Amino acid sequence: MVRPRVATALGLLSTAALASATYTQTDNYDKNNFFQKFEFFSGPDPTNGHVQYADSSQANNEGLAGFSGGGVYLGVDHTSNVTTGRPSTRVTSTATYTKGLFIADIAHMPAGTGQYGSCGLWPAFWMFGPNWPNGGEIDILEGVNNQASNEITLHTAAGCSMTNPLNNSVTTMSSQDCQGNTGCPQVTNNPATYGSAFNAAGGGVYAVEWTSTAISVWFFSRSDPMVASLTNNANPDPATFGTPLAQFAGNGGCDIDQHFANHQIVFNIDFCGDWAGNVFDSDPTCKSTNLSCNDYVGQNPEAFVEAYWLINSVKVFQQTGTPAVKKARRFKA
Ligand SMILES: *[C@@H]1O[C@H](CO)[C@@H](O)[C@H](O)[C@H]1NC(C)=O
Ligand SMILES: *[C@@H]1O[C@H](CO)[C@@H](O)[C@H](O)[C@H]1NC(C)=O
Ligand SMILES: *[C@@H]1O[C@H](CO)[C@@H](O)[C@H](O)[C@H]1NC(C)=O
Repeated sequence: MVRPRVATALGLLSTAALASATYTQTDNYDKNNFFQKFEFFSGPDPTNGHVQYADSSQANNEGLAGFSGGGVYLGVDHTSNVTTGRPSTRVTSTATYTKGLFIADIAHMPAGTGQYGSCGLWPAFWMFGPNWPNGGEIDILEGVNNQASNEITLHTAAGCSMTNPLNNSVTTMSSQDCQGNTGCPQVTNNPATYGSAFNAAGGGVYAVEWTSTAISVWFFSRSDPMVASLTNNANPDPATFGTPLAQFAGNGGCDIDQHFANHQIVFNIDFCGDWAGNVFDSDPTCKSTNLSCNDYVGQNPEAFVEAYWLINSVKVFQQTGTPAVKKARRFKA
């Protein structure tokens, strides 16, 4: 980890140099600019979902996207029976990012309602680079069907093996090799990180720090005092965030700068397809519908009335100012 090393070297420097190691905001997406800065993706679903992604005019006309309760609303059709894919939303930032700190204040995430819960749903808040999987992918908040808590995953081209330096019971890393569709997932064990339990608490804040040495994800539920501090801080410092929910360290097994670049931020709501559809029958509740994933999703619009994102803000920060690391190195040389 670079942080302890920098702190040690900086012990020899002034406090002014220390202060310059924090982040400065470069973008703030919220109800005032979101739909100018994120574009609707309306092509066929690359992951083969039972979904029909709306373009901006369809989303607007059918009330699939807009504003609600001071936030940005992204939802799905929850009134019609469909056979060709449920109308839904997928938006992508026009800006691209390489490294940085990303702080998302999310009031509500897509969840299902009724007897079968979230069967068929596959919501995700994620980032990805060009020429997949060469530009890499960071899945910050994602899951399928009645998954109990968030699963955080990276996907890359061959040659990226990550470690979980936290090695605690909160997240379990099922594979270190981040290559391709399976990627290197870390499964969390806190229900408040995902779905209905996330929503019942009023959502919360996800923070992602992407550096050359590690990709770290923090979660703070709405009542956590860190939420107010993070959403109002012009210069947040991840060193004050506490232990991450998940951390992926390159550690000689993955050159992060080689495998992750130029990411766009995405929010989407998929149904069935390559993940939710493929494991639909291994969720006992979903299997008990006695329907295929596509038929369940197509014939039960009312189950998806809560299948929406409500995003208060997404803020992006970059390390700027005096490069404290270089200073420290020169001092030592
Ligand atoms: C992770 O923790 C387990 C159980 O405490 C331990 O057996 C294992 O060696 C640890 N792995 C690493 C890489 O530190
Ligand atoms: C529904 O149940 C019937 C009778 O058990 C079974 O034959 C059929 O395969 C089931 N259909 C689905 C889609 O699970
Ligand atoms: C949708 O299809 C189901 C199953 O055929 C039916 O029970 C339900 O009434 C239909 N709902 C609407 C809104 O058409």
